Amino acid sequence: MGSLSRKHFLGLKETPADDIKKIIDTGFMFREVLDRPVKKVPSLTGMNIVNLFFENSTRTRMSFELAEKRLSADVINFSASSSSLKKGETLKDTVQNIHAMKMDAVVMRHSAPGSILQLTKFVDAIVINAGDGTHEHPTQAMLDMMSIHEKFGKLKGIKVAIVGDICHSRVALSNIYGLITMGAEVTLCGPPHLLPVGIEELGVNISYNIDEVIEWADVLNILRIQRERMGIGIIPSVREYRSSFGITQERINQHQKEIVIMHPGPMNRGVEIDSTIADGEQAIILDQVLNGVAVRMSILYLLLSQGEEKEA
Ligand code: CP
Repeated sequence: MGSLSRKHFLGLKETPADDIKKIIDTGFMFREVLDRPVKKVPSLTGMNIVNLFFENSTRTRMSFELAEKRLSADVINFSASSSSLKKGETLKDTVQNIHAMKMDAVVMRHSAPGSILQLTKFVDAIVINAGDGTHEHPTQAMLDMMSIHEKFGKLKGIKVAIVGDICHSRVALSNIYGLITMGAEVTLCGPPHLLPVGIEELGVNISYNIDEVIEWADVLNILRIQRERMGIGIIPSVREYRSSFGITQERINQHQKEIVIMHPGPMNRGVEIDSTIADGEQAIILDQVLNGVAVRMSILYLLLSQGEEKEA
C-alpha cells in the first residue's frame, strides 16, 4: 500500500483520482476492522494527533477521535471554548504551542475559509481539514463517496444530486470536486440565489426543479438548511423551502423509484427532509457515519504511516 501524493489533506479541489481511489479502497479495509469484536489495530502506535475544533461538531469530531484511537494513536482534543483563546491568544500562538508538544498531525475545524492552508505555514505536522468555513469539508466528501461506492460498486457514471443551499456549503463543494474527478454525474438543485454564479464551470448541471431531479438521480445528497440564514432573509420561510425543495414522503411516493438518500447531518427533520425518509429503507445516513470512521482511519493511515517526501 502506498501513501498519498500530498503531505496534507486540505481539500479535494486538486486531489487526484488515484488518491481518492486509494483512500476509498483502504477505507473498506478498515470497515472490516470496525466489524471485528476487537476494533483496533496498532498502525499508528506512538503517533501524536491533536484535534483542534474552533467550531461546533458532533459527527466529525467524534469520528476523528474514534478513528485515531482505533489506529492506536495518542490523541489530544482541543476545544476553543475552554482554551486561552478566550484570553486573547492568537491562532498562530495556540497552534505553535501545541506543535511544541511534538504533534505528528493536526486535525482542524475552523469557521474561516482558508484557515487550514494558513495552519500549514505555522506547523511542520501533517494537517487535515475537518471543515474550513464555507470552503471545503473533504473528509465528509470522502465518506459520502465511499458510501455511494459501497452501494453501487463504483462512482463513475452514478447520477448524484446535491440539494439545498449550495452557496454556503463546504460539503457541497468538496463533493463536487471529488465526484467530478471520479467520473460521477452531478446535478445541483436549490433556490436560484443559493446556487453560486458560474458553478457550472466545475462540470455540474443545475436544476431548480426537484421533481425532475428526483426522476434523474440515483442518489440524493440533501444538505442542511442553515436556520441561522432564515433570520437574515436568505431563505424566506421553512414552509416555502419545504414545499419547493423538501424531500417529503409525499414527493418520494409520487416518483415510485429506487433512490439512495444521503444527508451529512445535522438534519432539520421536517424542513429539508421528512423523518420517514431519513429513517426509511432508502436512507444510508447512518452508514455514512460508520464509513466516516473508516475513511478517516484510511486518510490518517495513508498520511502518517509513510515516511517519504511528498509535495506540500
Ligand atoms: N457532517 C458534519 O460535519 O457534522 P458535524 O458538524 O456534526 O461534524
